[in-house]
Amino acid sequence: AATSRYEAESAPAVCGGAVASNHSGFSGSGFCDSSNAVGSAVTFTVNATAAGTATLAFRYANGSGTNRPADVSVNGSVVQAASAFAATSSWSTWATKSLTVQLNAGSNTVRLAATTAAGLGNIDYLEV
Ligand code: GCU
Repeated sequence: AATSRYEAESAPAVCGGAVASNHSGFSGSGFCDSSNAVGSAVTFTVNATAAGTATLAFRYANGSGTNRPADVSVNGSVVQAASAFAATSSWSTWATKSLTVQLNAGSNTVRLAATTAAGLGNIDYLEV
């Protein structure tokens, strides 16, 4: 099926931090630079035409040199705890982190929440 792209910097996504554009290579008008704190989050609202298995593909950059793990939640339940968002070679080097989840037909909430005090990497978008 065709994928849809949901930018982290614009509604309906909610960026728990600052929308920024100071590192090149992002899609759309910028990215979400979430706060450097445990629980710092980006929340996406995504649509699925039918219930079932879907691949979530998060585009992110992490120039910190260290993994920035996140709990991945779908519709309020953690589906992958402390999922790795490995370091990329710079803040302008973007990578894709993918995982398979179950979605409901219609609207779904997908949330990344940082599990360490470093917060999340910079999040560009989610494709479903
Ligand atoms: C740097 C970088 C930011 C990044 C931040 C972080 O300040 O410029 O884009 O979000 O580090 O460590 O989270």
